[in-house]
Amino acid sequence: MSQAPFRVEPLGDAHERGRFDCGEEVLDRYLRTQATQDIRRHVANCFVAIEAATGQIAAYYTLSAASIPMTDLPLEECRRLPRYPAIPGVRIGRLAVDRRFQGRGLGAAMLADATARTIEADIAACMLIVDAKNDAAVAFYQRHEFRLIPGSPRTLFLPVASARKVFHLKHET
Ligand SMILES: CC(C)(COP(=O)(O)OP(=O)(O)OC[C@H]1O[C@@H](n2cnc3c(N)ncnc32)[C@H](O)[C@@H]1OP(=O)(O)O)[C@@H](O)C(=O)NCCC(=O)NCCS
Repeated sequence: MSQAPFRVEPLGDAHERGRFDCGEEVLDRYLRTQATQDIRRHVANCFVAIEAATGQIAAYYTLSAASIPMTDLPLEECRRLPRYPAIPGVRIGRLAVDRRFQGRGLGAAMLADATARTIEADIAACMLIVDAKNDAAVAFYQRHEFRLIPGSPRTLFLPVASARKVFHLKHET
């Protein structure tokens, strides 16, 4: 039986993060120096894709609780939502794929994993929010149906219900 090439798991002490290189130094440095502190302080959780054959980190992303004011969303989106001042969400703060693994669908797989974790979490969240680091990242998220928050150059949102369809996740039982 063939083994899955990657597994996604929470970042832990045993993971070797010094060789991670996604091409954006700020994202490499975050993984090396900041991620563990953020986890310890409950500021963000960090999940890593591990290449099964080598045990190396191939990609990572972070998740944090977030809230989005209703007034930030486009009108047509608000019409589908209950009339609360703010909508609960989950922020994908960072997403990075090591250069050796880019362009193989791993970034998309990490977004799918983040969506699945959001759906399965005990705390409800109905919106995914991402802060894209650059214009290429904006294009990447738009490719997966994220939409820019009006007036914001690089913050995008995607309703969890839409993400479930985009990433072909099963419906809740
Ligand atoms: C952006 C990044 C996460 C994408 O990950 P990836 O594994 O290379 O992307 P994938 O292979 O999953 O691409 C999935 C789809 O998005 C498209 N895509 C990938 N990068 C894209 C880009 N920059 N612009 C537009 N579309 C893009 C791919 O063509 C692919 O489309 P397809 O499904 O039709 O084939 C990765 O390139 C990366 O880590 N870059 C450096 C760090 C960075 O900028 N991170 C974003 C921070 S918010």
